[in-house]
Order: sequence, then structure tokens, then C-alpha cells
Amino acid sequence: MLTRRGFLQTTGTAGAAALAVFRDDGIARIEAAARYAGHRSADEAASDENYWREIQQAFTLDRTIINLNNGGCCPSPRVVHEALKRYLDISNQSPVYHMWQILEPNIESVRRRLAAAFGCDPEEMAITRNASEALQIAQLGIDLKAGDEVVTTNQDYGRMLDTWEQRVRRDGIRLTKVSFPVPPKSMDVLAERLLAAITPATKVLHFCHITNLTGQIFPVKQIAAEARRRGIKTVVDGAHAFAHFPYTAADLGCDYYGTSLHKWLLAPIGTGFLYVRKENIPSLWPLTPAAASRADNIRKFEEIGTHPAANHNAIAEALTFHEGIGIERKAARLRYLRNRWADRLGRHPKFRIHTNLDPAHSCAIGNVEMIGVPTGQVVSQLWEKWRIIATPIVHAEYTGLRVTPNVYTTLEEVDTFITAMETIAAAG
Ligand SMILES: Cc1ncc(COP(=O)(O)O)c(C=O)c1O
Repeated sequence: MLTRRGFLQTTGTAGAAALAVFRDDGIARIEAAARYAGHRSADEAASDENYWREIQQAFTLDRTIINLNNGGCCPSPRVVHEALKRYLDISNQSPVYHMWQILEPNIESVRRRLAAAFGCDPEEMAITRNASEALQIAQLGIDLKAGDEVVTTNQDYGRMLDTWEQRVRRDGIRLTKVSFPVPPKSMDVLAERLLAAITPATKVLHFCHITNLTGQIFPVKQIAAEARRRGIKTVVDGAHAFAHFPYTAADLGCDYYGTSLHKWLLAPIGTGFLYVRKENIPSLWPLTPAAASRADNIRKFEEIGTHPAANHNAIAEALTFHEGIGIERKAARLRYLRNRWADRLGRHPKFRIHTNLDPAHSCAIGNVEMIGVPTGQVVSQLWEKWRIIATPIVHAEYTGLRVTPNVYTTLEEVDTFITAMETIAAAG
């Protein structure tokens, strides 16, 4: 077992560790850090700054800004970005050979590893360019006729709602958007709202595994099981869920699941996946048409024409980095960072937290409103005076700042955010 002293000898002092980012041993250092943290619970490791310093230094960031918008897309660790660049260089030697013959076939290794991490059969795993593409394959590929109904929420992602709205205009389907409380007192409320909206015309339920607006986690299994019992298909938007907190496909039980990999997995920009339950593959039309002979093959959803192999192959390196930390430890750290600011601001009379902080309800993402100060104004001041990036959320039913740290975020950065918020509130 690696002791703290052994760990520090392996990784060096803080000064030497700062140099590590320039060396090509990122994964080895993460593994050494993992061995060091391995004998302690995820919650104990969550507050061990010696461990997290190694993770922080695995990235090549601009530390003159504090990026608390990791809900948009995230920087990759250096090893992942190096892999991306390496594969691009290899491709460019002679793409028809090096990219198509050498790199592209290795997408199968990525499929196998992603399927193992998600807990499905590789033959149910399609690799896409983002969550939008993954979800739109499902949304536009399910046969629906005029009058058929899709039930979703009014806090689902705008593009996904736009996609259903287009089917309303084009195919004459009906779209019902339910509202739910923010924050909800229980998970049951979320299931009840969606299930209560079902009518005899309902063919699809579409909802987030975790919302991008407040970071609310939904009881996917409860909803999907009931939908299945009633013969209704479930499309689950997992854009923010994969590699964020622990779960597998068996914990969900949905029909279709789309996620981004350039968010919490820290894979290159332009990566995502679509899970299609095996029984649904033959009847789901791909977004970009494929030969009839491929109707039963999950790869029919990847027929997008010429594209870089580098992006999807570098997912393998991101999985290795992710597994080096471990999902339990990562989720515990993300909650630790989120609680550091949310507990403090939550006790302050000028702030209202729109996220239920119970670990079953949320993880890294939190939403906070500064009472009496317009959200846009808070965002501008954070940027102009403090160089802090956070996301304004202005919903018809509430407003607030979405704050999302990541594994590379330091305590000093979180504390600067707290100070900035308290300063703006005191002035405003
Ligand atoms: C809930 C949700 N769904 C879908 C998406 C789309 O993801 P992507 O940009 O990877 O297509 C996002 C992006 O932020 C999101 O937050």
C-alpha cells in the first residue's frame, strides 16, 4: 500500500509536481495517486488536497480565469489532448490509409470500453459527435404518426425540445411539457409529474437523467419501468450524467440514452454516444441513412460520411484517465467542491439555492440565485472583476447562476467565487 510519504516521493514535492505537466507520464502519476488514495473511502479522498493536486496538474489550463462552467464542455487532460493531436498527425500522413485503414477500425476498442463503462452490450453502443446527435437520432428516428404524443418537461434541453417541436410542425405529433418544482422535495414528485401526464396517445417519454439548469437528477428507473409496463418508449437525455456520478445501464432501464463525452468524461470536443436497447435497433431509423442490410446493426447510426478518427479514438485515453480516478472518488470530490460554495451561500440571506443538495438528487452542478440582483448582472460582474465564468440560467419559473466545478478546480478557486458572490451581494 502506498503511504502518504511514498506518494509524495513518487510524485515529488509540489514544485516538482508543477513540472510534471510537461512530462509525458500523466497516466503513471494518476495511477500513483490512485494507489495512494486507494485504501481510503471516496469521501475521505474527496478532501485530500495532495491527491487532487496531481489531478489538477494533469491539465494545461489558463489559471488566470476560474472556469465554473464545466456544464458546457470541458478541457481534456493533457494525455487525452496529446492522443488527439497524435492521431491527427498520423491521419494526415495519408488519410485514406492511415486514418481509414489504421485508426478507424480501432473505434471498436472504444465501443467495447464505453459499453463496459456504461454497462451495456457493445452492440447497443453507437459513437456519435455529441449528445445532440445521439438524442436526435432517437427523436427523429422513432416512427410516430400525427396525433401521437411525446411527454417531456419544460426544463429539458432547448435543442432537444426544438427537435420535438419540429416533429410537431412536420409530422403533426403532440408535445406535452410538464413543469416540476425547483428544487423538488422528493424524487417521487418528478416521477409523478411525468407519469401523470401520460394519455392514451402517449408513445414516448423524454426527460433528462440530470438537468443542465439546476443539476436535478431524475429517478430514471422508476419512470422507465412504468413507461415500459404501459408500452411507452423512453428517451433519456444523459448529456451531463456519464462519468459524472456512478450508475450503469441496469440502473436506468430506458430504451434510448444519449450523452456527451466532452463534458464529464473529458474526452475531445465532438464526442458522445447513443445507447439503443437491442430490441429497438431494427425499428429506429438512422439520422443519416444507411444500407438496408445494416438495419439490425448499431453501426448504422455512425454512417456520417468522412470524419476525423482522432476524436473518437482519443475517447480511449479519456476512459483510462477517468478510470484512474474512479467514478466514486470523482463524484465524491465534485460534491465536496459543490458543497463548499453551496453550503456557505445557502446560509447567507441574500442567496437562494435552487438545487437539492442531497447526494441522491445532485452532484457537481448547482444553481444559486442572488436575491434582488439580476442574474445577468451577477454574471457580468463575476467576469469583469474576478475573471470567473459561470452560466446564467433564466427560466420562466426561476433564475440563477449555474455553477459547475470539475476535478481540476482548486479550493482557492471555489473560495474566490464565494468571496466574489458575497462582495457583489453586499454591494447590490
Ligand atoms: C441536458 C442537455 N442535453 C443535451 C445537450 C447537448 O449536448 P451537446 O452539446 O454535446 O450536443 C446539452 C448540452 O449542454 C445538455 O445540457
